[in-house]
Amino acid sequence: MNPIVICTHASQKKAIQANLIRNQLSLLTTQTPLSTIATKLDVVLLKIPKSLQEFRLYLQHIVHNSTEDLVVICAFMTRHFSSKFLTISQEYFEDVEQSKALKKARLLTLKKKKATPIVEPIISIPYKSTTYKQYWGVFSADHIDYATQYFLHHVDVNASDQCVLDIGSGNGIIANEIYKQNPNVEMHLMDNSFLAIASSKLNIQGETIHHHWYDNLSIFEDQQFDLIVSNPPFHNDYEIDIQTTLNLFKECRRCLKVSGSLQLVANKHLNYKTHLERTFAVVETVSENQKFIIYKCSVS
Ligand SMILES: C[S@@+](CC[C@H](N)C(=O)[O-])C[C@H]1O[C@@H](n2cnc3c(N)ncnc32)[C@H](O)[C@@H]1O
Repeated sequence: MNPIVICTHASQKKAIQANLIRNQLSLLTTQTPLSTIATKLDVVLLKIPKSLQEFRLYLQHIVHNSTEDLVVICAFMTRHFSSKFLTISQEYFEDVEQSKALKKARLLTLKKKKATPIVEPIISIPYKSTTYKQYWGVFSADHIDYATQYFLHHVDVNASDQCVLDIGSGNGIIANEIYKQNPNVEMHLMDNSFLAIASSKLNIQGETIHHHWYDNLSIFEDQQFDLIVSNPPFHNDYEIDIQTTLNLFKECRRCLKVSGSLQLVANKHLNYKTHLERTFAVVETVSENQKFIIYKCSVS
């Protein structure tokens, strides 16, 4: 048997490889949910993701890269159950069977795959004069996120900014809107999600544009930026989790030029100011409304 792992998050891929090394197991072949898989799949184990569109994307990928005898065993926590799990599964499989709960978790077993057409797993989202494209399951599928739109009204880009980083770049909208204003910049986009990076590649390309599928700033060991922008993540699956973001803010300090700034938008209730003040010499509130707040931070 030659198992493969389909990874969507760079952090997942790193954790799996680290655990295999720690347990002296051989490294596994990793693929992405957009790769064509050379060896057809017989059995697939899948944790159902929070995004139903992402679930649909996985099922389409699995069905079109598998043998006729394919069996997919999906796991989920009972409290996250949605009848849409069943509806989507039934689009791709004749047999969809749900197990009883065990320790608050359940399985869905999917057998007898249906003959389904391959649909391009991409949606379009208009924003001003641009139409953004993104893969199923990427952040904010129905519209450009309202925090992002608010940020784009207030972000302060200087004509002299040469090197810009967008952290948690999603479909690339923030990077692209800045790039449109200032096409001479070297622009870096970084996101933990493979599907986000694959989406940003559809929306912003060029010799000075760099897309990074990664989850922290260690890849920028020797690089410093004039401007770092972000609409940072604050969820880990179903839970609110700001720790990853706070770690990213700390790393930003090292990666900012002395004259540079980190500008970010956040939901007000997250109260990032106290945390940012521990890391940056200056933390300004650029704008706020009932829901969102924009900070500008600098090291001097
Ligand atoms: C709030 S969304 C913003 C997306 C995009 N910038 C926008 O405005 O539409 C946050 C993004 O951060 C990404 N993300 C989560 N953890 C990350 C990490 N450790 N490093 C980089 N990106 C991360 C998510 O995949 C998601 O695309």
